[in-house]
Amino acid sequence: MRPLSEIYSGGDYPQVLVGLSEPDDAAVYQIDPARAIISTTDFFPPVVDDPYDFGAIAAANALSDVYAMGGRPLMAINLVAYPEDLDNEILTEILRGGAEKVREAGAVIAGGHSISDAEPKYGLSVTGEVDVGKIIRKSGAQVGDVLILSKKLGTGVVTTALKRDIADPQHVAAAVESMSRLNRTAAELAQRHGAHAMTDITGFGLVGHGLEMAKLSGVDFRLNMKALTLLPGTIDYARNGVFPGGMERNREYYSQWLVANGELAEFERGLLFDPQTSGGLLMSVAADRATALLADMRAEGEDAFRVGDVVAGSGIIVVVKSG
Ligand code: CO
Ligand code: CO
Repeated sequence: MRPLSEIYSGGDYPQVLVGLSEPDDAAVYQIDPARAIISTTDFFPPVVDDPYDFGAIAAANALSDVYAMGGRPLMAINLVAYPEDLDNEILTEILRGGAEKVREAGAVIAGGHSISDAEPKYGLSVTGEVDVGKIIRKSGAQVGDVLILSKKLGTGVVTTALKRDIADPQHVAAAVESMSRLNRTAAELAQRHGAHAMTDITGFGLVGHGLEMAKLSGVDFRLNMKALTLLPGTIDYARNGVFPGGMERNREYYSQWLVANGELAEFERGLLFDPQTSGGLLMSVAADRATALLADMRAEGEDAFRVGDVVAGSGIIVVVKSG
């Protein structure tokens, strides 16, 4: 079978600046010498109980891939699957959560499509724009860069605890706040400080998405386990083995490119592979800009963590424990 990247090759379409031949967070299509359109989509079943929160989280998550390219969202289309026998009031709340999040992003919901389905699902197809010279790809990380993450980790663990009815409501509230938060400010500041490469941390976890950047950039990422900051409650759930199924799949696949310098506990390994919903931006930024970027992010009320650095190599992740 021919690989999809070959069938859908951007080769005949030079306007496709970012497409399947070098997968990134979103597709980018140049429309004139200065500007390009960004296109992306994401949708999934509820990750929390409150329908408004679910809508806001799904929207923030879908918008995030525009931010991860260094762009700004313009408009969005609702994608809805909904059971016919479920109260319509719930759907209204999901859509309200999504619409308010899109408005907060400075964009607008301009249409949508719904189908009947046994399990609700919601998300967006998002169109954004970016200056051609300011596209931030996964592939630009440089040796000597500092790696900065803009949200705490642990949404997979906390939402799994919620599904199992063992989650503390305060832990859920903190995770909801994090998942609902737009990556807009973090992306703007990454842009201002000239980040070399960027992606958002979602289903493949910190290591999976970090590996995509490291491989495409032809470098190694050195992550410091002790610098990873977790959402409240995460460490206790993780110690008790509360992980979503996706963590196991990520670990099975990505472990071949992970080298641990020093002993990693089972739960620490799990956290490295924990799938995130609407996770933070992972930025690779020149070392002499890192301190200013971290300070600007914190001044804007963003989470900002220096999680590692970029070293010479060929696309693996080295985990150290120091400090
Ligand atoms: Co992404
Ligand atoms: Co995505």
